[in-house]
Amino acid sequence: MMITRRHLLVSTVAGVVSGCATLATARLQPVDGRLRLVVSDHMGLDRANGFLKVQPIGSKQVLYVLADGEGGYLAVSPTCKHRGCTVDVAGERLECPCHGSQYARDGSVLRGPTQEALDRYVTTLSPDGVLTISLEGPRA
Ligand code: FES
Repeated sequence: MMITRRHLLVSTVAGVVSGCATLATARLQPVDGRLRLVVSDHMGLDRANGFLKVQPIGSKQVLYVLADGEGGYLAVSPTCKHRGCTVDVAGERLECPCHGSQYARDGSVLRGPTQEALDRYVTTLSPDGVLTISLEGPRA
């Protein structure tokens, strides 16, 4: 299936923005195992500590898209590797509310009790600002 810029814009605009004031959720239609989003359509993603919670339509799985501070973007699973709680985005790091583990924005461990990094998804950013996230299994 050919993805046009119009299709991307429609998909992104159709994404439902909801949730609390600190973490909006964009629901995006996966195509061929990938999510695509136009970065400039999501307010705040281009900031140093920008982030967006994304839920593929038809899935309960969610992921966080995080600005890396160098013009790129990372996508990580929010599931803490200690005992499975959902981590929160807290500025430059991610924090688990259950037992205090902390992760860097790239998912690496900053503080235990967790011993394992968050799962990461492969991302690519095109020169025209379209971020593609592969859902073909998170990569640690
Ligand atoms: Fe995250 Fe225990 S579940 S620190």
